[in-house]
Amino acid sequence: MTPTNPETIDVSLGQRSYPVWIGRGLLGDAARWRARLRGRHALVLSNTTVAPLYLERLAQGLDGLQWSSFLLDDGEAHKSFANVGRALEALAQLGATRDACVIALGGGVVGDLAGFTAACWMRGIDFIQVPTTLLAMVDSSVGGKTGVNLPAGKNLVGAFHQPRAVVADIDTLASLPAREYRAGLAEVIKGAAIGDEPFFAWLEAQADALAAREDAALIEAIARKVRYKAGVVARDETEQGERALLNLGHTFGHALETAGRYTTLLHGEGVAVGMLLAARLSERLGMSQAADTVRLQRLLERTCLPTAVPAGFDPQQLLALMRLDKKNTAGTLRLILWRGIGKAEIVAGVDEAEVLAVLREATLG
Ligand code: NAD
Ligand code: GLY
Repeated sequence: MTPTNPETIDVSLGQRSYPVWIGRGLLGDAARWRARLRGRHALVLSNTTVAPLYLERLAQGLDGLQWSSFLLDDGEAHKSFANVGRALEALAQLGATRDACVIALGGGVVGDLAGFTAACWMRGIDFIQVPTTLLAMVDSSVGGKTGVNLPAGKNLVGAFHQPRAVVADIDTLASLPAREYRAGLAEVIKGAAIGDEPFFAWLEAQADALAAREDAALIEAIARKVRYKAGVVARDETEQGERALLNLGHTFGHALETAGRYTTLLHGEGVAVGMLLAARLSERLGMSQAADTVRLQRLLERTCLPTAVPAGFDPQQLLALMRLDKKNTAGTLRLILWRGIGKAEIVAGVDEAEVLAVLREATLG
């Protein structure tokens, strides 16, 4: 597809600032992203699903460089330390110097692992994010959280390492399965629910256009979510405060993902159910109104996202998993709740009995 002028959002971090480009034909628009590469070496990190679809298009822009590719098998299970070791070996094989660049072509799994690999090689080299899922475009490719999973838990090892650029070519979404696309929409809704009520109202108005993947609505939705996240990251890069709000629904969601052994619910689906549970808990604690919960539930339903805890899940087990969340302090639950749409808040010392009641009410019989 011929490149069109992309939406450009700047993530402002002083000398480490970088652009996020969102539009069509960007993989083939090498003149734009090649300018962000400093040296002569590049390692393209992708996976066995995405590379056959898009590596060739990207590779045309790498002419004249010394480059190679390293492909992961597909799936969350491959976001592992062992694969970071293999990717680092690939950089060694390439003879990558300090000015080399890792290019992440894929969804959040590829992006997180590629960024962490770049953070480790020679104590930190450049990387460029080329997200190919909606979730990666609106969330994981922006903000510099990189890392891998351990058998003991998800994302337990990682580094803050910002990319040099994010190239979000929406042409790549043409091959994305509908379920993955909807999971990405959950992350868009999340941004609006946390801190941008007008954006939430816009999403309500555009729900059908977004379900139909209409260009204009899609580009605007991605841009608005990225702009919101870029602002938060610029103010609190390493999550000392405000950035924790971006985890609305995550404590519930991670527990649901873990209880389902990462096969029942996708990450975005866990976030969708988790946000609704957080809204119900907020209402129960007298922080928000039922009308806000209803608006969130309606938008999730119109987006065909799940809104209940799947049948067979044990609320007590979910609560136990929530106790392991990284945000907890001093043995008490610390959750992101809200005072209504666009007004998320960090709440410490949440009463476990209330959490359990919300989990019980939401579990399908
Ligand atoms: P993913 O990377 O597993 O991609 C989902 C599926 O879509 C995979 O099967 C993948 O091969 C396939 N795929 C990717 N692009 C495609 C395309 N264009 N066409 C067809 N198929 C395609 O999952 P995801 O939802 O993109 O990301 C989830 C990961 O992101 C998790 O590991 C999560 O922890 C991480 N994450 C990180 C951050 C962060 O800030 N770093 C934020 C949110 C999520
Ligand atoms: N996905 C949460 C964050 O980037 O902080």
